[in-house]
Amino acid sequence: MPDTPASSPTPLPVIPRPSRTESGGPGGLTLTAATRVSADAEARGTLTWLQRELGAATGLPLATGDEASAQIRLSVDARAGLGREGYRLIVDDEGAIIVGNDPAGVFYGAQTLRQLLPPDAFRSAPLGGAVWTLPAVSVTDAPRFRWRGAMLDIARHFSPKREILRFIDLLAMHKLNVLHLHLTDDQGWRIEIRRYPRLTEAGSWRTESQLGAGKPPEFDGRPHGGFLTQDDIREIVAYADARHVAVVPEIDVPGHSQAAIHAYPELGESGLIPVGTQWGVFDEVLAVTDNVLEFYKNVFDELLELFPSTYIHVGGDECPKTQWKNSASAQKRIKDEGLADEDELQSWFIRQLDDHLTARGRRLLGWDEILEGGLAPGATVMSWRGEEGGIAAARAGHDVIMSPTATSYLDYKQSESEDEPIRVGTLLRTEDVYTAGTVPPGLTEEEAAHVLGAQVNVWVEHIDTPRRLDYMVFPRLSAFAEKVWSAGERDYAEFEPRLERHLERLDAVGVEYRPLDGPRPWHTRPGVRGWGE
Ligand code: ACM
Repeated sequence: MPDTPASSPTPLPVIPRPSRTESGGPGGLTLTAATRVSADAEARGTLTWLQRELGAATGLPLATGDEASAQIRLSVDARAGLGREGYRLIVDDEGAIIVGNDPAGVFYGAQTLRQLLPPDAFRSAPLGGAVWTLPAVSVTDAPRFRWRGAMLDIARHFSPKREILRFIDLLAMHKLNVLHLHLTDDQGWRIEIRRYPRLTEAGSWRTESQLGAGKPPEFDGRPHGGFLTQDDIREIVAYADARHVAVVPEIDVPGHSQAAIHAYPELGESGLIPVGTQWGVFDEVLAVTDNVLEFYKNVFDELLELFPSTYIHVGGDECPKTQWKNSASAQKRIKDEGLADEDELQSWFIRQLDDHLTARGRRLLGWDEILEGGLAPGATVMSWRGEEGGIAAARAGHDVIMSPTATSYLDYKQSESEDEPIRVGTLLRTEDVYTAGTVPPGLTEEEAAHVLGAQVNVWVEHIDTPRRLDYMVFPRLSAFAEKVWSAGERDYAEFEPRLERHLERLDAVGVEYRPLDGPRPWHTRPGVRGWGE
């Protein structure tokens, strides 16, 4: 949009919408084989990324030049007043300059620069014949929230490393900066732990999987499995770091632990049980013994070696108390520690992990059930059962991340049509994701400051292939990205034309998003039942 006057209400077709843009008038910078790129020391990571990504799409060398002769210049200037992760991008006939407040800011400036080119700039090889002209423009931009996340469940259905790396690229394209990996659940343990090899040898596969959400349950009769090695994890973390995405691991305790109990029955209250094959919430939970605590502290210690993330997620959700009510060791623990009930017992267990993580310089993160029975002193809360958990935690002075089901669960149905694949949850359309608020109303300014940001959650009970993942995640993730990056009013009517343009980028990347007018015949899942069907 090179000739849009500065006063025009038509924004640049960039997602997420930048804070401020001014047109530089007609003209712009055309990239050619002679175009050189420079970067100061702190911006070098983005230089490498730009050469790799834009070089592949355009076929141009975009060779490194010195600062005096380069047409594209990248630098960090913390004194420019751009704000955390902020940047300024200026393009004119002579060149393009990106100044970031920090290395992440430079990276986001480069992401915006890529979106200013035709959508084919998102392909992996050139089609030939394109003219790569950046419009003359000035963009000043910074994110609204510091936590802009997506959770990927790789426990219910495994995602191999290849898909996780691709997902990271898609997060970075949308200026999202947290990948929360849900690594363990009843139906599978997906990360190698050297000290306890049976977690993956036995706990990473199940005999079959429930198909859909119907009652009585139906099963597919086919084993499912897979896990990430520690080298896979190191690679994923380094790849994400180069794209300014923090990888936050989750080991879910003390519920959702059937796979671990299958591998090491002494962890549980019920002897040998199979790895779960059905979706839901189950009574089989961890025992609260010294040996179990020791086991998990050792597991978390290996996790800390692999994940530099400040935040370490311990789950804490959906832990039925039935077994503890009937367990001599659980009741003895309640008595010995002077606890009131099983809720306080769960809280006590989480607190032991909080002490362990805090002593190692990390911060415990958990689903909002960790509020029940008292919040551990260092805990940050992820509010998923509505906003109440977030509100309570923020009022108690704890940091929170908002991911309420109604606006954040990307496994939830995208329309009421019978053609929509496996309809679970409540209706969550792209426009619903876009328009929903992030900070719960009613918080004071001081309480609201505890809201670090938000994330969408991709639970995959009913998403068993990368193609189905694309369908459920996009374009809802694009709408979410704007909500957490861009401040100011959001008007879906203004967003939609930009989204249509953005879909051309997703086409160029090769993302099989849900078309805005609904599923294609091959997206349907005839005969596979959703909730209440
Ligand atoms: C959750 O959805 N059980 C956090």
